[in-house]
Amino acid sequence: MTGNLPSLVEEGAVPSALAPMQNVTDHAFMHVIAEMGPPDYFFTEYFSVHSTTSLDGETLRSITENQTGRPVYAQVLGNDAKALADAGVKLEDYPIAGVDLNLGCPAPKIYRRNAGGGLLRDAKIVDEIIGEMRERIQGTFSVKCRLGFEDDEPFDACLEAVDRHQVDFLTIHGRTVKQMYRGDVDYSSMAKAVRLLKCPVFANGNLTSAAVAVSVIRDTGCHGAMIGRGAIRNPWIFRQIREKSLGMKVFEPKLQDVREYIERLNQAKYDPGVGDRYRVAHLKRYLVFIGEGVDPEGKFLHEIRRVKDEAEMFRVCDRHLMDNGCGERLFSDEPFPGVVARPNKE
Ligand SMILES: Cc1cc2nc3c(=O)[nH]c(=O)nc-3n(C[C@H](O)[C@H](O)[C@H](O)COP(=O)(O)O)c2cc1C
Repeated sequence: MTGNLPSLVEEGAVPSALAPMQNVTDHAFMHVIAEMGPPDYFFTEYFSVHSTTSLDGETLRSITENQTGRPVYAQVLGNDAKALADAGVKLEDYPIAGVDLNLGCPAPKIYRRNAGGGLLRDAKIVDEIIGEMRERIQGTFSVKCRLGFEDDEPFDACLEAVDRHQVDFLTIHGRTVKQMYRGDVDYSSMAKAVRLLKCPVFANGNLTSAAVAVSVIRDTGCHGAMIGRGAIRNPWIFRQIREKSLGMKVFEPKLQDVREYIERLNQAKYDPGVGDRYRVAHLKRYLVFIGEGVDPEGKFLHEIRRVKDEAEMFRVCDRHLMDNGCGERLFSDEPFPGVVARPNKE
């Protein structure tokens, strides 16, 4: 079942999407990812929607400057049904593939104002928002949800609202809001949604490699795989999913390819108005995830966290990704156990 999803995907290939990630998946990052082998669908970072605000100009750039050759969905986050529907209608003036509603953000400053994952505490409001957005959005309207807030009790009501209001597709991050990004992902909830819903379902959460993604899609019957942190670490994951699902030889990046990826990120993020230290601090948002797959002791991650400027950053990169023959070593398919980008936050 493909709903209103554009059917660009080759027969037999598992469709893939880059997950929306605030302060990460901007237009520059989407461009770098597309160069490595793009996913079938992109999502913007969320547009924060209030009754009085306009659409964020920087986030709009990932729509107006989309050079990936792939469709981009615009995600919205808020708690006011009318304002969210208004924002969706405004976004339809831009070249988007559809509007996506965020029902999962676990950041306390968001859920405390009953937006993102906070909405899952009130089934009536979820139903009202989905209903209003569906009525007003002419094109594709999708939802990205978690299983619930404290537990998965709200999940069934959420599925009912998605079905009743004929949402075009649903992405499920198989965790509760309280789990944040930790702990097991419940893939059986996705299989259940596939059984109950008329629309396609995307699986999301800890699809750490092409092998894991393809096996979860085959086991759950989901339409496609949405990848977040795994794609920051391994930007080749989308081409690998395509190759794996088509039975082709799967690309195996070496550490020198990772060095090249970091160079491209650095160039894509270059802004003459922004100082070196600030850019390097921003790049660390990506480098810490890359570090999960460089060496099993986490030495690269340890050193990269401490760099302060570009020269130092590339010295650490060269030491771990190029020098003494390490450039020829294969980059790990999976993150190394215990080497975690954000041990204190997630
Ligand atoms: C840094 C970061 C920012 C995120 N921002 C968003 C967001 O703007 N909208 C959203 O729906 N989910 C957001 N997420 C959640 C991801 O889209 C995804 O659901 C989650 O990371 C699980 O997938 P993964 O295990 O493949 O990373 C964010 C996650 C991270 C790590």
